[in-house]
Amino acid sequence: MVWHKSKRILLGVSGGIAAYKSPQLARRLIERGCEVRVAMTRAACEFITPLTMQAVSGHPVHLHFLDAEAESGMGHIELARWAEQVIVAPASADFLARLAHGRAGDLLAAVALATEAEVAVAPAMNRLMWEHAATRENLKTLAARGVRVIGPGAGDQACGETGPGRMSEPEEIAVEIAGDARPLLLDGVDTLITAGPTWEALDPVRGISNRSSGKMGFAMAQAALDFGARVTLVSGPVNLPAPRGARRVDVVSAHEMSEAVMARAPKSQLFIAVAAVADYRPVNVAANKIKKDGGRMRVELEKTPDILAQVAALKSPPFTVGFAAETENALANARKKCMEKGADVIAVNDVAGGAVFGAEENAVTLVYRKNGKTGEEALTKADKYLLAVRILERIAPLRAAS
Ligand code: C5P
Repeated sequence: MVWHKSKRILLGVSGGIAAYKSPQLARRLIERGCEVRVAMTRAACEFITPLTMQAVSGHPVHLHFLDAEAESGMGHIELARWAEQVIVAPASADFLARLAHGRAGDLLAAVALATEAEVAVAPAMNRLMWEHAATRENLKTLAARGVRVIGPGAGDQACGETGPGRMSEPEEIAVEIAGDARPLLLDGVDTLITAGPTWEALDPVRGISNRSSGKMGFAMAQAALDFGARVTLVSGPVNLPAPRGARRVDVVSAHEMSEAVMARAPKSQLFIAVAAVADYRPVNVAANKIKKDGGRMRVELEKTPDILAQVAALKSPPFTVGFAAETENALANARKKCMEKGADVIAVNDVAGGAVFGAEENAVTLVYRKNGKTGEEALTKADKYLLAVRILERIAPLRAAS
C-alpha cells in the first residue's frame, strides 16, 4: 500500500442498489484529504439522488452532456483531465460492458474513455450476473487494459441470494484508492515481526509444519509500514512477496527464527509475533530419506524455544504482541497465555474448523495485560490488512505510553 497524498478523484456512480454506499465512499475519500467530484448515470439516479452526492462532495454532480450547471463549471473533457483517479462504485454489469466496449453514450462512460488517469471499478451485481461468461470476458478485457478491479466481496445480496457480487465496503475501496490517511502512529518505530509457519525437518524431504499462510503477518508488516514504522519481517517458508520497504529475513526452522529474532529484538521497540512457530521438533534429523520398513515409526520430539516469551523476558524488552490461534476456550487461553508469556497484548482468533488459514479475512479479540490484570476488546471480521490497521491503531498508543 502506497502512502498517497491528497488526490483529485472522480467518483462515478452507476445504477445498482449498492449506490447507497457511494455517499459514504465520498466521505471516506474526503477524510483522506482527497477532492471528490461525482458523475452519475441516469440509472444511478433511480437509487440515490444527485443532491445527496452534491451535499457530500460539495460540488454539483455531473449527470448529462451539456448539463447546464455542472458542464458550465467544468465540461466532461475538462473533468476527464482534472481527475487523477477515476473510481466507479458501484460499477454495474452494464457499465462494465459499456466500458469494455469503449461506448461513450453517457457522460460517465465518456469521461472514463477520455481520461489518462487510472480507472478503478468496484463491481456490484447479482451473483449470476457476476459469474456470467459475458461479465467475465468484459472484466478480463478491462483488467488487460489496466483497469483496477476492487472486490466484489461475497455475502447476502439485495436480491435475496448469497454469493459473490457485493460491492466492497467504502472503507476498503478508500484504502485501495487513497491509501490510509491516518496519522503516522508508528513513525520511525523499529518494529520486528515474525510471520508464516516454521518447518522442522525429519529428513531431507519431510518435516513438521502447519497451515499458516503468512498472510496475517505480512498484512501486519504492510500496515506497520503504512503507519511509518521501520519494519523487519522474519518469515518462515511462505509464498508471499515482502511488502515494499520491509527488511525481510527468511528462515526455515523455529531455531533459525529464534536466532534471527533474538539478534534483533534488543534494538527493537515493538515486537509482533504472528508466526505459527512449531512447538516441537524432531530430536534427530535423518541425513537421508527415511525408508519405510515397518508398520510403525516413532519420532521423538523436543520443545522449540518460545520466541515470544524469550523476547518478553529480555532486560528491557520491546512492547510485545503475540497472536494465538485457539480451537476452544479462546479467551481464557489467551488471558493465560498473555500472563505466562509476559506479552503486553495477545490477539486471539478462534480457528475451530480451520477457516482462517490462508483466508483473506480474520477476526480477533485483543487481550491486554496491565497492572497484573487483563482487559479485552473484540475487533470485527475484516480483510487481514484492515484488521492489521485496526490492531496497530490500538497497539501504537499503548506502546507509546509504556
Ligand atoms: O503458545 P502458542 O503457540 O499458542 O502462542 C502463540 C504465540 O506465541 C504467537 O504469537 C507465536 O508467534 C508465539 N510463539 C513463539 N514461539 C514459539 C511458539 C509460539 O514466538 N515457539
